[in-house]
Amino acid sequence: MQIPKDFVLGAATAAYQVEGAAWEGGRGPSIWDVFTHQPGRVDHGDTGDTACDHYHLYREDVALMKDLGLDCYRFSVSWPRLFPEGSGPLNVAGLDFYRRLLDELLEAGIQPMATLYHWDLPQALQDKGGWTQRDTAYRFAEYADVVFARLGPLIARFVTLNEPWCSAVLGHVTGEHAPGIQDYNSALKASHHLLLGHGLAVQAFREAGLDNSAVGLTNILTYLRSRTLSADDRSAAVKADSLLNRWFLNPVVQGSYPRLLQAMGIYEFVRQGDMDVISQPMDFLGVNYYRSTVVSYNPQDLLLGAALEEYGEERTDMGWGIDAEGLYLTLRDLGNQYPSLPIYVTESGASFPDIVEDGKVHDQRRIHYLAQHLEQTLQARATGVDVRGYFVWSLMDNFEWTKGYSNRFGLYYVDYSTQKRIAKDSARWYQQVISSRVIDSVRSV
Ligand code: FCB
Repeated sequence: MQIPKDFVLGAATAAYQVEGAAWEGGRGPSIWDVFTHQPGRVDHGDTGDTACDHYHLYREDVALMKDLGLDCYRFSVSWPRLFPEGSGPLNVAGLDFYRRLLDELLEAGIQPMATLYHWDLPQALQDKGGWTQRDTAYRFAEYADVVFARLGPLIARFVTLNEPWCSAVLGHVTGEHAPGIQDYNSALKASHHLLLGHGLAVQAFREAGLDNSAVGLTNILTYLRSRTLSADDRSAAVKADSLLNRWFLNPVVQGSYPRLLQAMGIYEFVRQGDMDVISQPMDFLGVNYYRSTVVSYNPQDLLLGAALEEYGEERTDMGWGIDAEGLYLTLRDLGNQYPSLPIYVTESGASFPDIVEDGKVHDQRRIHYLAQHLEQTLQARATGVDVRGYFVWSLMDNFEWTKGYSNRFGLYYVDYSTQKRIAKDSARWYQQVISSRVIDSVRSV
């Protein structure tokens, strides 16, 4: 299958997961620094203190990207590296790090895509209530505004927030993620303020007049399959869709929260004019896709009336079912509903137990996974969906949140004791896909 010339092939990382240098260069603590240092939060007590030491090794890492031939690199800017207190004076050393990284990328001919918020809220703002406070949305927009003014002309695409669903739900309902809160009401508040922050940042972006750049939001989307076509299963699937996908999609693309969220009381936190700010046009939607779910009616579940199960027989090392077709169907549905909204698949990838043998990592399953998902993305494009790019998660193994360093997603293997990077077979495969702009049919991989 031919890959169109203007289709962007990239790879992604996020600041807390790769940078390390947590206490260097004037950086302030984020909620993840605090969270990872609390006993029992992360497997093996791992933290992002050093991670891949990308803060020091960025030159070498950009050389790896150049070797791969990446069109675009998606990274995130660490808010507490720029504003150690969340707001107030700018930490110039932090800004300089990103300037150096951007220079290096541009020199290598790689377009930068910057995420402004990949979960690392400055702890100083968490101390004042974090995303449950409306004020945090305004602080976010101020920070975004500085990034647009100082770095904007160097950056081809901006993602305001990465997966606000995770910040709200994993951070405030299940408590698996920082800040580790378990309270539905807090999650509702946080979700609205995250989205408000997104809207205010888009406004700031427009005011900055960055005509050669684009801005969007990245959501994690889960494809839902109702177990049967019965009315009960189908209505359970609609509810699950509201809670898993539409909560953070409808407000930005249609200016309202789904009915289920209304019933849960979200509008208590919405002020007049908010929905207009949140739903002003974006240049693209980012989609992170990892898995799909089977939904069936279950009256015992009080919130959803639904039971959710993993779909797909084969599992990744995260226990996530593999369903490449679910990505195609997700893109197809988005294309049908919002035909004028360009899409980037801003993350797609898998964790498998990688073993180094004679300096090599034969990660055939990852190659197969990526080939299938890229092919399904191109298939969606071939049928008319305006999907413009695909980013592998991740460029290199990194700190996988609550799993710490035990789960590896990278095209490059990272030996954390030496910080040596080893190209896995998947890196070689991706390099070949990028240079030939052809992807062999998945069966022949
Ligand atoms: C996504 C996150 C990313 C990474 C992958 C595996 O939800 O955005 O940081 O952890 O999952």
